[in-house]
Amino acid sequence: MYDDNITLSGVKNEILTDKQGEVLFYQSDLPQSKKFYIESYGCQMNFSDSEIVASILAEEGYSPTREMELAQLILVNTCSIREKAEDTVRQRLTVFNKFKKDNPGVMIGVLGCMAERMKSKLLEEEKLVDIVVGPDAYRDLPKLLQNAGDGQQSINVLLSREETYADIAPLRLESNGVVAFISIMRGCDNMCSFCVVPFTRGRERSRDVYSILSEAEDLFSRGYRDITLLGQNVDSYKWENPDGNEKINFASLLEKVAKINPALRVRFTTSHPKDITDEVLLTIKNYSNICKYIHLPVQSGNSRILELMNRTYDSHWYKERVEAIYRIIPDCAISSDIITGFCSETEDEHRETLEMMSWANYSMSYMFFYSERPGTLAARKFKDDIPEEIKKRRLNEIVELQRNISLKHNLKDVGKTFEVLIEGDSKKSDQYFKGRNSQNKMVVFPKLPGLKPGDYVYVDIHEANAATLKGKVLTK
Ligand code: 5AD
Ligand code: SF4
Repeated sequence: MYDDNITLSGVKNEILTDKQGEVLFYQSDLPQSKKFYIESYGCQMNFSDSEIVASILAEEGYSPTREMELAQLILVNTCSIREKAEDTVRQRLTVFNKFKKDNPGVMIGVLGCMAERMKSKLLEEEKLVDIVVGPDAYRDLPKLLQNAGDGQQSINVLLSREETYADIAPLRLESNGVVAFISIMRGCDNMCSFCVVPFTRGRERSRDVYSILSEAEDLFSRGYRDITLLGQNVDSYKWENPDGNEKINFASLLEKVAKINPALRVRFTTSHPKDITDEVLLTIKNYSNICKYIHLPVQSGNSRILELMNRTYDSHWYKERVEAIYRIIPDCAISSDIITGFCSETEDEHRETLEMMSWANYSMSYMFFYSERPGTLAARKFKDDIPEEIKKRRLNEIVELQRNISLKHNLKDVGKTFEVLIEGDSKKSDQYFKGRNSQNKMVVFPKLPGLKPGDYVYVDIHEANAATLKGKVLTK
């Protein structure tokens, strides 16, 4: 799940609190305390990494701020997945540099996926940044900050085969105190031909199961009720203890997390169609607190394109997996990622993607047109030969179709009752709460006295549009 939009992380006021509103420390009590400002781009994994970075910086005496003007350290956690994401980061770096000109003590750092790709450009040619840190080198930040402070170039973009940051307790930024993300693995070994992630994030490695469980238990004890297990390909999670007598796959990890407490909702993303097993599906079915929602990116509905994409499944295999999901978990919602206009894609092949979308009945999709990334298999082997107007027209068709499918999907829910976990005020009105059902649909309903974020309620749905369900809390 990728979002090219900006999100600011930090705390608004002078008080830093934890999710339950418990005060951790007052920034005004620490006049000498240094502040950092961080912007995160891209996938949920990046947002999760920013929380690890925040934790490392807190140890160094830094506290987060939402206002760049207050910061001595400005960081941007970057995404390389599409060109647009990289362009946005470059624009932001120009803004930060203007600020630095008037405030010479300030340091600027680039974190994440762009670090490796852009290191020499950013540091030497354009002199836009003081520090460059790749996704596996965050532990090195204190040393890099020190070096940069002494006027040296500071860079570490080494990728690791082991680093999972298992022992670092993330400092939750932008938290509503109810929903949190736990990174269970890093990197990706899949080598989809369009994708830069295996190059920027390195080899796949799974995190120690016990560190995941204690993070989840800790979150639950602090009031969190909805956690998402994060990985580029969660189905290939694999961990064994040093003696080799305990082997944990994704299904057993899911089960262990679900057993922490029935009141803790468990979600996960992203599943790979080639790896998702019936064992995982049965585990989802068997635990009411494992959410009935699977993000299963298809990328294309056509087998020739899937082969060029090196997805290692064809449309027949994908359909079989979707059938298995609906057979084993009839009330499951499925969402997808779709790339349109991949190298040499014909109109007929594009139509097969549209057909797949209707057939699979996705509750929602993340849709993109193909953006060639330097160094990827596709960039080396194939021509990016679909003209931009055609890519855009196909993308519009896909977006339009998904809107219709989502609307129908949601209209079918009118008249049903869902258990909803309250997450906070709805965007449009503080008279309404918002929350999600197990199928990951946003549900909006009028507030009732005594209800608060973190509570479960049953909501009768009486209205729907393509994005949201609306209803009323069921009172007995
Ligand atoms: N161009 C367009 N979309 C891409 N994605 C990954 N790489 C590219 C690219 N080069 C999309 C895929 C993936 C999602 C996270 O981003 O759909 O599943
Ligand atoms: Fe990229 Fe494919 Fe790995 Fe996803 S599974 S991160 S699309 S290489």
